[in-house]
Amino acid sequence: MKVTVVGAGNVGATVANVLAHKDIVNEVVLLDLRGDFARGKALDSWQQAPIDYYSTSLKGTDDYKDTAGSDVVVITAGIPRKPGMSRDDLISTNAKIVTSVTKSILAESDDPVIIIVSNPLDVMTYAAHVGSGRSRDKVFGMAGILDTARYRAFLATELNVSPKDIQAVLMGGHGDTMVPLPRYTTVAGIPVLELIDAAKLDTIVERTKKGGGELVGLMGTSAWYAPGAAAAQMVESIVKNDNRIFPCCVKLDGEYGMDDVYLGVPVQLNKNGIGKVIEIDLNEDEKTLLNTSAEHVRKVMNTFDGMGL
Ligand code: NAI
Ligand code: 2OP
Repeated sequence: MKVTVVGAGNVGATVANVLAHKDIVNEVVLLDLRGDFARGKALDSWQQAPIDYYSTSLKGTDDYKDTAGSDVVVITAGIPRKPGMSRDDLISTNAKIVTSVTKSILAESDDPVIIIVSNPLDVMTYAAHVGSGRSRDKVFGMAGILDTARYRAFLATELNVSPKDIQAVLMGGHGDTMVPLPRYTTVAGIPVLELIDAAKLDTIVERTKKGGGELVGLMGTSAWYAPGAAAAQMVESIVKNDNRIFPCCVKLDGEYGMDDVYLGVPVQLNKNGIGKVIEIDLNEDEKTLLNTSAEHVRKVMNTFDGMGL
């Protein structure tokens, strides 16, 4: 199995490093416009192999020929946001990057599963899907695992329990309109509302929605450890054909009563990419929140359409 990660910056280098640690693929190619930077990151990760015991080889490059025959490609190329910026502010730069990277990848690999990470995530997934002309099962985006992880981490701290025991579903776009779902949140099987009062949970939901911005405020750029690990977790389910269920950004084709919008929903990931889009029952309030999130994503999709790429 061969995985290419495009963009060797904070997130891309982390995806490559986490994947190597999992020792589940033969080769990881790390491609960046900054070829030497990618070569350095790959070499550094390879020199960690004798210490941490993995055999996945890593190659840094700026030549798409090195990506030939990739089974999975993770696209992290693009600019991250800085303090004061929203993810949507990145569209004019990142849409061009994601569109051209997708085309260059498909010139070398016939049938890769493509995972988008670049922001604004839902619309960059749209850009890659349209630009590639491939089915929705093969081109989708990472955000929900990260946003859910933030929600679970905040809950673990508040309840003083292990984050391992918190299961949750979060849907919608990767932005302030995302929809954490307390009704589908459990702690070792116990509904979360039996363990925390509603007002406190509400504070955690609001903090989750702004979780990316909190880190931008602290670090001056966006996060990479949890985002990198989240993308690597998606790759793992695909290459191991694990059929794990994660919230991922995918084009909706009638699910949740919506068409032609790219939104985070629970999906099953296997060797074909998205094996199944899962529809869960939402109450009226949850449906309203999801529709609001979809409307926001649609507006940014319209901005992309107006770019004429
Ligand atoms: P970074 O600036 O550290 O790395 C981006 C890399 O992309 C740079 O090394 C740059 O040289 C490279 N690059 C730019 N144009 C390229 C091209 N045409 N071809 C190849 N490489 C190119 O940024 P970071 O922190 O790694 O973030 C990357 C993207 O991921 C940003 O758009 C950020 O907003 C997004 N992100 C998305 C998350 C999500 O949940 N979906 C979470 C965290 C970040
Ligand atoms: C994050 O949520 C900025 O999308 C990035 O950390």
